[in-house]
Amino acid sequence: MSLVDTHGRIATDLRVSLTDRCNLRCVYCMPAEGLPWLASARLLTDDEVVRLVGIAVRLLGVTEVRLTGGEPTLRPGLAALVARLATLRPRPELSLTTNGLSLVRLAEPLRAAGLDRVNVSLDTLDPTRFARITRRDRHGDVLAGLRAAAAAGLAPVKVNSVLVRGVNDDEAARLLRWSLAGGYELRFIEQMPLDAQHGWQRSTMVTAAEILAALRAEFTLRPLPGRGSAPAELFEVDGGPGRVGVIGSVSAPFCAACDRVRLTADGQVRNCLFAREESDLRAALRAGADDERLAALWRAAVRGKKTGHGIGEHGFRQPDRPMSAIGG
Ligand code: GTP
Ligand code: 5AD
Ligand code: SF4
Repeated sequence: MSLVDTHGRIATDLRVSLTDRCNLRCVYCMPAEGLPWLASARLLTDDEVVRLVGIAVRLLGVTEVRLTGGEPTLRPGLAALVARLATLRPRPELSLTTNGLSLVRLAEPLRAAGLDRVNVSLDTLDPTRFARITRRDRHGDVLAGLRAAAAAGLAPVKVNSVLVRGVNDDEAARLLRWSLAGGYELRFIEQMPLDAQHGWQRSTMVTAAEILAALRAEFTLRPLPGRGSAPAELFEVDGGPGRVGVIGSVSAPFCAACDRVRLTADGQVRNCLFAREESDLRAALRAGADDERLAALWRAAVRGKKTGHGIGEHGFRQPDRPMSAIGG
C-alpha cells in the first residue's frame, strides 16, 4: 500500500538527508559559525539507510529517491551507498542535490555507482558575489564540478539558483544565458523561511514574478504544460529547446500536488518541509521493529500531512529545524 495522506496525495518521491553538515555557509541557510551538528551516533548508518529505502520502494510505492543534506557529498562512502541503493528492486530513480564542490572528484564514481542525475546549487556567476553568499571562496570548484557532472553523463544537470536581494538579484537573465550555453537546466527558487537564523522576510524575498519579469525582458518564455507534481513551473526559452524553471514555493505553492516525503539524517520521517511533527523511524528500527512495522509507522506519518505550508497565514511558525537539517 502506498504512502497516501488524508487529502489523497500519494508520496512517491523520497528525499533522504545523509548529513546536516555543509562546507558552505549560505546566508539564507546557516550562520557563519555553522550549527550544532547531529552527533554521529544519531545518524542512520548506511545499513539503516539501505534498509529504510528498501522498505520505501518495496512496500510503500516510492519510485524516486533523492539524496540531500546539508551537503550529501560530505558523507563518507557516498558512492558505495549509492551502489547499494541501485541494487534495490524495484530500482528507484536515484538523484543527488549538492553544492557541487566535490563533483570534480565524485561525478564519475557516483555515475558508475548508479546515480542517475544531479541538481547543483549555484546562485551567481561572479566569484566575489559567490563568496558573499556562501562565505567561502569556492566558485571555481562549483563551475568545474558542473562540467564534471555533465561529462560523467549525470544528465540532465539542473542548476538551482536562489536570488538574494541586493547581492545577485540582477543576475537572472545572465544566469539563464550561461545555463543555456552550458546545457544546464536552470531553476530559480524563491527563498523560504527555513534559515537557521529565522531572518527570512517576505518583503525581501525575490519573487517568482520579479524573476519572470527580468527574464522576459531578454527572452521569450512560453509556459510548458505538464508540471505535474514538480515544484518548478517550466518555460520554453526563445522557441526551445532550452528551458527554465521557477520554483515559487512561497508565492505559488505546489503543495496540492506534492508527492514528497522526507527522511532526515537522524531517521525521522517528515511529511513536509514545514511539518511541525516528525516520526522516529530510527528508534523503532533500533528497537528491532520488522519491515512491516516500519512501513506501518511510515504510512501513519504521511497520513496526517497538512494541505499546505501556511507561510503568510495567521499563526505560521517556521519549523524548528532549518533546511540543512531537514534536507533540501
Ligand atoms: P527534480 O526531481 O529534479 O525536479 O528535483 P527537485 O526540484 O525536487 O529537487 P531539488 O532538491 O533540486 O529541489 C529544488 C528546490 O525545490 C529545493 O531547494 C526547495 O527549495 C524546493 N523544494 C523541494 N522540495 C520541496 C517541498 O517539498 N516543498 C517546498 N515548498 N519546496 C520544495
Ligand atoms: N529557501 C529556498 N531555497 C533554499 N535553499 C537552501 N535554503 C533555502 C531557503 N531558505 C536551496 C539551496 C539549494 C537547495 C537544496 O535549496 O540553494 O539549491
Ligand atoms: Fe550548504 Fe545548501 Fe545550506 Fe548552502 S544552502 S549552506 S550549500 S546546505
